[in-house]
Formats: sequence, C-alpha cells, structure tokens
Amino acid sequence: MDYLIQENKKQRNSSKNQHLGKVNFWEKNANGISGKTTNGSFKLSIFREDIIRIQASLFNEFETNPYSVIASPQPVDFSVAEEGNTLYLETSLISVQLQLDSFKLTFFNSKGNLLNEDDSLSVSWIGTEVSAYKSVQEGERYLGLGEKTGNLDRKGKAFTNWNTDFFAYGVGDDPLYMSIPFYIGTHEKGSYGIFFDNTHKTVFNFGASTNRFIYFSAEDGDLDYYFIHKPNISEIISSYTWLTGRMQMPPKWALGFQQCRYSYYPDTEVYAVAQGFRDKKMPADVIYLDIHHMEGYKVFTFDGEKFSDPKAMIKRLKEKGFKVVVIMDPGIKTQLGYYPYEEGLEHDLFVKYPDGKVYEAQVWPGWCAFPDFTKEETRRWWAEKMAFYTEAGVDGFWTDMNEPASWGQFTPNLIEFAYDGETASHRKARNIYGMQMARSAQEGSFLQAPSKRPFVLTRSGFSGIQRYAAAWTGDNVASEEHMMAGIRLVNSLGMSGVAFSGYDVGGFAGEASKSLFARWMSIGAFAPFYRAHSMINSNDAEPWAFGEEVEEISRNYIKLRYRLLPTLYSKFFDRCQTGLPLAESLAISYPMESKVYESAFQNEYLFCDVFLVAPVESTKEITKVFLPQDEWYYLYSDQKLQGDQVIYQDCPLNYLPVYVKGGSIFAMQSDVFHTDQKPTGTLNIHVYKGEKGSTFVHYEDSGDGFDYQVGEYLKRSISYLPELNAMTFEKSEGSYPSDFSKIKIYFHGFTSKEIEVNGEPRALNFENYAFLERLTEFDPLPEHNHPYFEIDSIGFVEIDHTQEEIILKGLV
Ligand code: NOJ
Repeated sequence: MDYLIQENKKQRNSSKNQHLGKVNFWEKNANGISGKTTNGSFKLSIFREDIIRIQASLFNEFETNPYSVIASPQPVDFSVAEEGNTLYLETSLISVQLQLDSFKLTFFNSKGNLLNEDDSLSVSWIGTEVSAYKSVQEGERYLGLGEKTGNLDRKGKAFTNWNTDFFAYGVGDDPLYMSIPFYIGTHEKGSYGIFFDNTHKTVFNFGASTNRFIYFSAEDGDLDYYFIHKPNISEIISSYTWLTGRMQMPPKWALGFQQCRYSYYPDTEVYAVAQGFRDKKMPADVIYLDIHHMEGYKVFTFDGEKFSDPKAMIKRLKEKGFKVVVIMDPGIKTQLGYYPYEEGLEHDLFVKYPDGKVYEAQVWPGWCAFPDFTKEETRRWWAEKMAFYTEAGVDGFWTDMNEPASWGQFTPNLIEFAYDGETASHRKARNIYGMQMARSAQEGSFLQAPSKRPFVLTRSGFSGIQRYAAAWTGDNVASEEHMMAGIRLVNSLGMSGVAFSGYDVGGFAGEASKSLFARWMSIGAFAPFYRAHSMINSNDAEPWAFGEEVEEISRNYIKLRYRLLPTLYSKFFDRCQTGLPLAESLAISYPMESKVYESAFQNEYLFCDVFLVAPVESTKEITKVFLPQDEWYYLYSDQKLQGDQVIYQDCPLNYLPVYVKGGSIFAMQSDVFHTDQKPTGTLNIHVYKGEKGSTFVHYEDSGDGFDYQVGEYLKRSISYLPELNAMTFEKSEGSYPSDFSKIKIYFHGFTSKEIEVNGEPRALNFENYAFLERLTEFDPLPEHNHPYFEIDSIGFVEIDHTQEEIILKGLV
C-alpha cells in the first residue's frame, strides 16, 4: 500500500485527473469508518447524528485545519453494514451509502429521501488540486458561502475563496475579504449544509460553464468536508455553528449606532463629531479612530500633534457617553528604533521567507513586516501590546487590512507561517491570517480589560471568525446597487455563522446622494452592526451633513433602533446560544418559495425574527414587496396584509418598508441617547394578533462584563397563545434587577376593549401610537413626499413588571 501511495506522489504532479479509486479495505472505528482505496485513504466520521465528516487523501495521513472546528465527535449510535458493492453508514438523521467500486457517496435523510449525491467522478485530484463533484438535484438551490456578491441563489456561478483587499469592489466581484467555505443546498427532498474545511484557496462552482455537476475544490490539502443535515435550514446553520463556534455576547454599546471616518483628526474634530450627535439629539455610542490617529501609520502609537493627550480625549468622550474603537493594521513598519519592529525581530514573530529572512511588503506605513498571527507567541505579544490602547481608555478594536493587504496585491506564495505547529506556506495560511489577527485582538481585550466584553470588528476572516469578531463588508461604494448588495452580503454572512455584521452605511467610496444616505441609514437600523463610514477626501458624511430632512429621517431611524434595544439585546443573547443570524434571508424560513429568489425580492429578510424588512432603493417611490405565507402588519400603520402575495408598497424616503409578522412579540424602551443611559422604567411590549403564536424571551443584564455568566441576568418568557386568546409572562429567571418596573402592552390588530389580567377584568386604554416622529414640513427633496403614519387608537394596558407570573386573557 505504501508503495502505491509513493507511486501516487509521483503522479500527483501530472495535470491529468486522478480519481481516488475503489475501496480496497475498510474498517469500523469508534466514530465511523476508515479505509484505503486504490489511490489513497478515506475516513467517514460521525460528529453528531446530524453531522458526518468526510475525509479523503492521496496519503496515509490526513491534513487538518486546526482553526475552525471547535466541536469534537459526540457519542452517537450508528450502524455500518456492507451489502454487495455498497457500504451503509447510518445515524438517526442521515444515512450514507458508499459505492465501493467508485467511491461515490450518496446522502439520504431518515425518510430515505435523497439529499445529496456524488457525481461518478466523486473525489479526484489534478496535481495537488482536490475536488468533490456532486450531482445537481431537481430544483436545487445553493445558499450562503459567506461574504459573496451575487444572487441569493448561487446557482450558475463560481466563487473563489482567497481573502482579498478589494477597494470599491463591484457588486459582482469576487473574491472579497473573508472566506467561509460553507454552503447550504436546498431542494424539494430536503436541505443540507457542506462545510469544506480547507484553508487553501478553494473554488465552489455551482454550475458555471458546466451542466454536469457542481463541485468544490482546493488548490492543495485534503478533501475534508462536513455534511450536515437537519430538517430546517435554521437548524443546519445552528449545527454549523455548533461545529465552528458562535459569537460571544457583545457589550451592549456595540449594538448602538457607530460613527466612523477615514479619518477624524485632530482630537478637536473627534469631539466636535461626538458633540454633534448630542447637540442634534441623535443617539450614538461609538466613534472610531482610523489610521490618522497614528504617528506615520505605525500601530501602537498616537500622533503627538493631532492627538496630544489621547487619554484626556477619550475620557472626555466617555463623559459624553461615547466609546472609542481604534483601528489596528497588521503591518509593522520596518524601522529600527520602533519597538514593535525590534521586538518582533528579536522574538521571531514575523512571517518569513523559507530562508529565514523577514518578509516585507508595503502598506500605509511604508515597508512593513507582518506578525505571524498563526503563532501563539505572536498573538500573545500583540495582545500584550494592546495595553497601549487600553491604557488610553480605548474600548474596542478594529482589525483592518488583515487579508493581509499590501500594495501590489500579490503576496508571494513561498513565504512561511507557523500555522500553529506545522509550517505552512502562504497558500495554506493566507485565508486564516485575518481570523488569527482578530483572535489575537480579542485575546488582547480580555487580557487588558478582563472585566469588559471584547468588541473586535474585522475585515478578513474564515470559518469560525464569529467566535472572535463582528465583521463588516469592507470598502463598498456610495451607490443604490451597493446598498442592496450589502444587504445580501450581510444576509449571506448570517447563513454562514457570522450573525454580527454590517456594511459602511452611506458607502465608503464615492459620495452618497441625500436620498441614498437617508435610505441607507434607515436600512442600517435593521442591520446587526450599524455603522456609518466614509473615505478620506470625501464630503462630510455625518447624518446631519446632508441637510435637515436627511437629518430628521436619520434621527428617526437611529432612535427607533435605540427604542428597540430590549429586542435587539435579547435576540443577540439568543443568537449567542443558537448561532442563528439576526438578519435572516427569507430563504431560511421559506426555502421552497420561488418568489424569495426573484431579483425583486431576494434582498428581503427577517430581522430579529419579527420584522420583515423589504429594502428598496432611495430613488423609488413605490416598490413591489413579496409577503410570504403568514400574516403581516405594515409597521407604521398596523395595516394588516395577508401573506403569500406580492403587494405594491409606497416607499417614501421617510418610511422604509417594514412589516411585523402576525403572532409575534417584541419589546421597546423609551428614548436613550446612548446605551449607558437608563431608559424610563416602562418596558413596552408589542403583541400582534395572528393565527400562530410565539414566545419572546426578554433578556437583560448589565450590558457589559461577565456577571451574567454567574446568574446576574434576567430572563423572562413572554408568550402569545392565540388558541387560548391569551398571553403569559412567566416568572423571571436570574438575579439581575430589571431596568423596568412596569410593562405597557400594546395590542396590535386586536379588537378587545376589555381583557382579564390575572383573573381581574381590565378595560384597555387607547392612544394613537407612532413608531417614527413626524418630519418638519420642509420643502421636500425633489420627487419625495413625506407622509406621516400613526396607528389610530391602539389598545394597551399597563401592569407591574415585578409580578411573578402574569396571565392575560380575552385577547380577541
Ligand atoms: C481600509 C478599510 O476597509 C477602511 O474602512 C479604512 O477606512 C481604510 N482602510 C483606512 O484605514
């Protein structure tokens, strides 16, 4: 056998396709089976009932990626049987058939429905390039794959995973900054996920230039993928994040509005912008220091002229309720006398050529060395260096240019990285580099500020990045189509494990028109990460820089975001447990609904489970919206709309089309201007009549720190039970003293005038209610009118929050 494998090594260099061959031998082991084929070896390992790992190699040993998967195989009952040419491997959820003569794998669900099947070419190599060829099922669609441009359904296109700094990318360009080789296939017989766990450059071809199969391939390394099946797509995403990890609860301030620019300087400008938000009564929590905070763009320095006393500046900003996030680029200027460079040389922390010379390339500071973040020692060193920022009072970290980017945009492949134990070339290490930098930044935050929750924002990443950082979609452009494309990027990231992501609101490159900026601010209010950013030498782009109307529209939506914080924060907490997206493409809940994939509707998504957001360009006055099955309420007027239809929706600039799902519940609070400000003591609960009920779990804690992990939280399940015309508030769990002493419940779509509260009759009160404030009557922007909506006479009751259990009856 070894002789054969030796022979194969020679053949690997040929450019002819070479198949894995037929199975000559197999044996059962604790987690599945392993065996040898004519040309290599394979392993099928059961991770859980719903996850089977497939490995194939031309060698005896398998190569693995030590960075992405954090779960280990669970004890699971499974069966193995051989019958004729077929080997059967079965868990309670997946059954795999392996054709012994062709290494063709076929996956079925527990009902025997075919989910996924290899083409007869199954697994093969061309030189070092390994591919898995899969047949296409009737009506099959492909979703996800992380930060990829293009349509929701990836069918007919090919994508490359190779982390790339792509300034002002086009809405069809590929690859961008982050690689997540995980996709979901869905068709009538069921859905499945495939995570190809290989950090080399990979390609996913969903039918570009071929009608025979789809395939995924890697430039080198093994075929190593996880096949995931559960009945629903959301469960598949949850399983993928069980494998690769979930976000950690961010500090509450990171859910607030964030203002960035390349760059605000000097310190007086930073104050002025921060003060602008307070003067304009626009909530905001974060201001960013981009690269001009540094002296000569050298990380771990402040420019002494522009920022003469950073500590005092940050203190003053904190007094205004602002947190400061600072940019960190990996490139270390190769300048003797600059400590980080000297330390890096001394402790051998940089990426090197195979002959031991330090690799240098140019970025902002000029010629730079690159810390090897795939080395524990380097990550630790970087984490220690971050004391420079935390001592000045910095709260969050922004890891940029970590693809890694360099001028020329072409890194020689021979440079070497530690890859945590096995030296690897750039070919294998590039895609993982940015994630390891983000990991180091998170470690630095933990190390330097152990009582605070880290907030790291990253541009580059790989599968599992969600454990360390939130992500943004890099250098987008101020255009209508970019605004729409960003929504799909974020929705796709959400399907790929990255729940906490957003885009540069307003567009990074170019100039936003007034209407574009206003619309983008309103859409961004429904993005998990909400930050405006713009480029050097562009016009001012703060929400008041576009005139008063845009300012009022922006204020309305930022305020709405802040009033929704009890919902957002509760849902973030939930997503930390489930790994599900906060912005969910409709394909997740309605995968078989073909309308969801039409270009007019593919950007629609559910935010926080309850809001259907139908993003629309700012240039449109009316738009088509697809409402999927279920019942819907137009947010601003409570107009009830039946699902399973396309409607024409007016979309004046001051009202983004948003609908609430019938039967749902969400929570709001009074206006605050930053997240450290306490709202009034009334929690507003909104419940919407519907055929199907729902449960909202309201979650509270102090908003930062880790006391919540030892019981300092408060969790209360609130359910709407339409079959009983009732609502229940369960006893709270946890010891955090609630921010709210009263609950005010608004009944949307109900006709009751009187209900029962814990057995006592209570007449409802009525008031007009508006989610957004009325705009001042300006001369409207050309072609835009500003209507005003409020919900007429909505019924509500106020009750004491401290009551242990509350039952409301008579909701009709
Ligand atoms: C590139 C980043 O994508 C952008 O957001 C940032 O402002 C510039 N680098 C300058 O640091």
